[in-house]
Amino acid sequence: MRATHAISSKTLPCAILVLAIFVPLSSCDLIHSTCRKTPNFQLCASILRSNPKSGSADVRGLGLIMVGSLESKATSALHTIKQLLRTKPHLKIPLIECSKKYSFILKYDVTEAYEALRLGDPKFGEESMNDSAMVAQECEDGFKRFPCPITSVNKDAHDISAVAAAIIRLLL
Ligand SMILES: *[C@@H]1O[C@H](CO)[C@@H](O)[C@H](O)[C@H]1NC(C)=O
Repeated sequence: MRATHAISSKTLPCAILVLAIFVPLSSCDLIHSTCRKTPNFQLCASILRSNPKSGSADVRGLGLIMVGSLESKATSALHTIKQLLRTKPHLKIPLIECSKKYSFILKYDVTEAYEALRLGDPKFGEESMNDSAMVAQECEDGFKRFPCPITSVNKDAHDISAVAAAIIRLLL
C-alpha cells in the first residue's frame, strides 16, 4: 500500500506534465483527431500524412484525399488484374469479375463521392464509400476454386473505403 502510494505520488506530476505537453498538440492535429474516428487509424494516418495537401486541409479536404487514395488503389488494381489475366489464365472468370468491380468503383462510387464532397452532400458520399467497401470484398469472394492473387489489394480497397466513409460521415 505504501509502495503504491510512493510510486503514484512520484509519477503523477510526470503524468500531468506529459498530458500538458501532448494533449494540446494532438487536439490541434486534425489528422490525428479525424483518424481516431475511423475504423483504421494506422491506415488513415499514413495515407493522410503522406499527402502534402493534408497539412492545410479541413475535414472535407481530408475526405477528398482519402477518396483520391481509393481512386489510385482501384486504378492500380485494374492494371494488376490486366497483367494477371495474361499470366494466370485459369483465373480468368473471377479476374474479369474483379475488373468489372474496380471499374464500377471508379466510374460510380469514386465519382459520386467526389461529387458529394464538392456539393456538400455527405450522406450520398458515405453511401458510395460503403458501397465500394462491399464491392471490393465481392472481388475477394469471387475466388472459390483457387486462392485470390490480389487479396491485399482488395483488403486495402475495402479498408480505405471504410475510412473514407467514416471521414465523410463526420461532415453529416
Ligand atoms: C455506412 O455503413 C455504416 C457501417 O456499416 C453504417 O452505420 C451507415 O449507416 C452506412 N451509411 C450509409 C449512408 O449507408
